[in-house]
Amino acid sequence: MIKGNFPTQHFENLPTPFYYYDTELLKNTLTCIKKESSKYNYKVHYAIKANANEQILKIIQNEGFGADCVSGGEINAALNAGFNNNEIVFAGVGKADWEIETALKSDIFCFNVESAVELEVINQIANNLNKTAKVALRVNPNIDAHTHSYITTGLNENKFGINLEKLQETILLFSKLKNVSLIGLHFHIGSQITDMSPFQDLCIKINEIQSELKNVGITLQHINVGGGLGINYQHPNHIPMADFETYFKVFHDYLNLEKNQTLHFELGRSIVAPCGSLITKVLYIKEGTTKRFAIVDAGMTDLIRPALYKAYHHIENISSNEDFEIYDIVGPICESSDTFAKDYSLNKTKRGDLLAIRSAGAYGEIMASKYNLRELPKSFFF
Ligand code: LLP
Repeated sequence: MIKGNFPTQHFENLPTPFYYYDTELLKNTLTCIKKESSKYNYKVHYAIKANANEQILKIIQNEGFGADCVSGGEINAALNAGFNNNEIVFAGVGKADWEIETALKSDIFCFNVESAVELEVINQIANNLNKTAKVALRVNPNIDAHTHSYITTGLNENKFGINLEKLQETILLFSKLKNVSLIGLHFHIGSQITDMSPFQDLCIKINEIQSELKNVGITLQHINVGGGLGINYQHPNHIPMADFETYFKVFHDYLNLEKNQTLHFELGRSIVAPCGSLITKVLYIKEGTTKRFAIVDAGMTDLIRPALYKAYHHIENISSNEDFEIYDIVGPICESSDTFAKDYSLNKTKRGDLLAIRSAGAYGEIMASKYNLRELPKSFFF
């Protein structure tokens, strides 16, 4: 079995657990996205929620990406990292007044608005500040993304977006509200989508919506199709990058853009997941009656995805080349869900070995908590 290429000589004296980021892989990924998206003039905003580590943000900003934010905190982080204010989009079902103010004062590119009531509040706050908010309406297209139910967002039963039946009536509101201007439509159907057909369905749905709007004389400046492109968690060494070429081509082939209409994306996971690994030290090998446990010093507080979504992460013992044995790989937290993998094959493992939990660059470090009064994991870049 091929293992990842880790600079283990640098790991010896670092305090575990920590996130290790492969800067070269991140940069190669960004280069590939730029190459594939620029074929069609598409604009990619990095979804900061996936990983807001300052160094990650700087690298991504430096390559000319925009930012997709879901809170005032993320808007501030984006601006601090140097993202252009006029390339920031701001989404979220529950934007607080101070967050709306922050966005207005920063003159961001666009609010992705999720309800008529939110639109009215933004209009009011913009009026107080003597500003006009540029708005894209987030439409819930009722498309099944065939992914984990916790990260499916585009169905009628989900809390996100404006239902299709209410779209035209919400658009009519703009004529009454003087401090909001409608510039686009926004969609996001879910995350970790590896089959392209939900994206094709989305394009077809957008075409229908656009032609209905055109019939009543409405054409918008931009369409934002959100994020959601999945990565291969099973084989990080063989498939270290998502298939951006096919992904962008799907939109080119299926989506009918109007003249001068721009297409925007909000990619998170596919940009940063592969470049991050959680490095953890084995504390004990405990022989149970039916199980052998590798108890490691990282827990669900450092990487919650396996506990929360039963997510799979490929795990390697980067200190051992001995024959494979079967382990349950568990953390130190007082919860049975604090388990990274069950019945997992690792090179024979002993106390002090380092394990790499792979593809943890997205929704890893950023979702860490201090539960059990643990320290937040540190991060290192090589
Ligand atoms: N745009 C919107 C409106 C979103 O809600 C999201 C993710 C994205 C873009 C970025 O999606 P991505 O390209 O990363 O799939 N914590 C979960 C994932 C939650 C995704 C939330 N929204 C996980 O660990 O799998």
